[in-house]
Amino acid sequence: MVKICCIGAGYVGGPTMAVIALKCPELEVVVVDICASRIDAWNSDKLPIYEPSLDDVVKACRGRNLFFSTDIEKHVADAEILFLSVNTPTKTSGLGAGKAADLTFWEKAARMIADVSNSDKIVVEKSTVPVKTAEAIEKILNHNNNGVKYQVLSNPEFLSEGTAIEDLLYPERVLIGGRETPEGQKAVQTLKDIYARWVPDDLIITTNLWSAELSKLASNAFQAQRVSSINAMSALCEATGASVSEVAYAIGMDSRIGPKFLNSSVGFGGSCFQKDILNLVYICECNSLPDVANYWKQVIRINDYQKRRFLNRVISSMFNTVSGKRIAILGFAFKKDTADTRESASIFVSQGLLREKAIISIYDPKVTEDQIQYDLATNKLDWDNQVPQQPMSPTARKQVTVMWDPYEATKGAHAVCILTEWDEFKDLDYKKIYDGMQKPAFMFDGRNMVDPVKLREIGFIVYSIGRPLDPWLLDMPAVA
Ligand code: NAD
Ligand code: UGA
Repeated sequence: MVKICCIGAGYVGGPTMAVIALKCPELEVVVVDICASRIDAWNSDKLPIYEPSLDDVVKACRGRNLFFSTDIEKHVADAEILFLSVNTPTKTSGLGAGKAADLTFWEKAARMIADVSNSDKIVVEKSTVPVKTAEAIEKILNHNNNGVKYQVLSNPEFLSEGTAIEDLLYPERVLIGGRETPEGQKAVQTLKDIYARWVPDDLIITTNLWSAELSKLASNAFQAQRVSSINAMSALCEATGASVSEVAYAIGMDSRIGPKFLNSSVGFGGSCFQKDILNLVYICECNSLPDVANYWKQVIRINDYQKRRFLNRVISSMFNTVSGKRIAILGFAFKKDTADTRESASIFVSQGLLREKAIISIYDPKVTEDQIQYDLATNKLDWDNQVPQQPMSPTARKQVTVMWDPYEATKGAHAVCILTEWDEFKDLDYKKIYDGMQKPAFMFDGRNMVDPVKLREIGFIVYSIGRPLDPWLLDMPAVA
């Protein structure tokens, strides 16, 4: 039985390996992690991440050919193929702080592989890394000079959270980059043979290492750029009376543009778009390409602008003060169908409202209260100015309650902000919500989930991203 070991049991390592184990029963797949509580959760009935259909896949193969363990060195030493799926966040201090990828976890894992290995291995980069990282990992792996031979491959992951299992079962493509030597190409073929168990041959593409590494960064940058483009357009729609959903529909019918990823929102979140673009920006700067770096920076600047614009709109619409007012936040995850909150626009908006002394109650169907409190208390580095954001005061944190029911969260509120596109928000009884709120009752829809016409009929003052402004708001321009 060929043995695979994946280092890192997170959002990528867990689901990816579960699908490989499901589709390749003849392989033994072990996922290892330094975080014992995460491994315990993978071995329990309550998996550490929420992802539709993940439970079924894990149940089908856990204990058969899928294992989760903290015995890292043993499983690494035994495996023939190693996947590296550790986190690669943005550096928060030192050279390149706020932009460069922090490869600390990555390098530690690589050094450990070099130290414990006594048989030849294929090492697969699954994490998203700066272009040319394969060269660095080759150097680390070979520093021991103990005769063990390594082939490093780049096999970036393109899954999206919320649809991870579907994306893994039916990928649009699998990308494998390797060295253009006979040994490198043999390793590429070995990995290709694994995917070929369920992915059609023409969807498995092979390239050189650097193209594979860079394609991942480029893919995320292009996707984020689309969201920032439509979000930039949303501001102009509001200023002119155009409707961003109509504009998106009209331009999306052009096959050269296409209809996907044109939903205007309060701003993109998630652990990767911002991090990967910043990483791209840093690589451009290091390669003396400041104009290219500035081009990509603008995608994040527009995203920051969109979040700020939404927050300011809430405040300015309510007579320029939310102090002491109750505001209900519907949705805390960075998108629907996940409990992940990393870089969620909800954190930015909630923290902004707390700084303005609002009292907020938050409802999200999947995110835990501990996670919400943690996110609100954690301060991020401002990537553009490289200064830590202002800390939240303990008093501000006391102004937050987390509710398990949207009607409870909105009861007595002056305003509701919809910040995640959970399907259930489309079907809420907005008349009931309106009846329970203070008047005038404001609805700020950051995801274009509600029908503004119907809600205005109920009595709400409605702000909906990129849609013609409510007459109430016309007199109250928001400064972003
Ligand atoms: P994550 O934080 O959920 O998981 C990473 C795991 O690696 C953690 O559990 C951590 O404890 C573990 N780890 C760190 N150092 C380790 C070490 N030395 N040995 C063993 N375990 C170690 O991160 P993630 O969201 O799974 O992302 C992983 C990588 O995949 C990142 O580079 C990310 O950019 C990329 N990626 C993420 C997604 C996504 O949707 N989350 C999609 C595609 C690519
Ligand atoms: C994204 C990419 O879609 C994946 O291909 C990639 O593998 C992954 O990043 C990664 O490298 O981590 P993910 O962040 O899970 O996946 O989710 P997306 O569906 O891309 O959404 C990202 C953010 O953009 C969310 O906040 C979402 O609400 C927002 N978004 C997306 C919009 O505001 N409008 C859209 O039209 C689409």
